[in-house]
Amino acid sequence: MEGQFRMEHLVCERSRLVERKPVFVNVEGMDVGVVLIKDQVHAVENSCPHAEGPVCLGDVSNRVRMKLDENKLNRGEYASPDEVNIVCPWHGLEFDIASGVCTADSRFKLHKLAAIERDGKIYISL
Ligand code: FES
Repeated sequence: MEGQFRMEHLVCERSRLVERKPVFVNVEGMDVGVVLIKDQVHAVENSCPHAEGPVCLGDVSNRVRMKLDENKLNRGEYASPDEVNIVCPWHGLEFDIASGVCTADSRFKLHKLAAIERDGKIYISL
């Protein structure tokens, strides 16, 4: 974005954010979910890249991975502590919050926005 002017929009107080509970804001006509994950703020357009469903209304939870043994047999599942996904409520696609990429098909990616925390307030930069 070099050479392009970006504008910061104050969207909420930091104290309003609760871990894994999106707060909905509107920025220049765009619905955005602001979600706190491990003290990091993420901003995601509330529109699923699959069919424009309200992705930020979905569950936010740790990604479930399989434990495979040396023969590649499933030996159970576990919730990955460092990977947090949001699940679109319309058709169930899961997206990694940090990267925005769909876990099932990397062609689908959330529209993430720059979220800035400063002096107890959250800004989104467009
Ligand atoms: S609209 Fe989100 S999975 Fe289809």
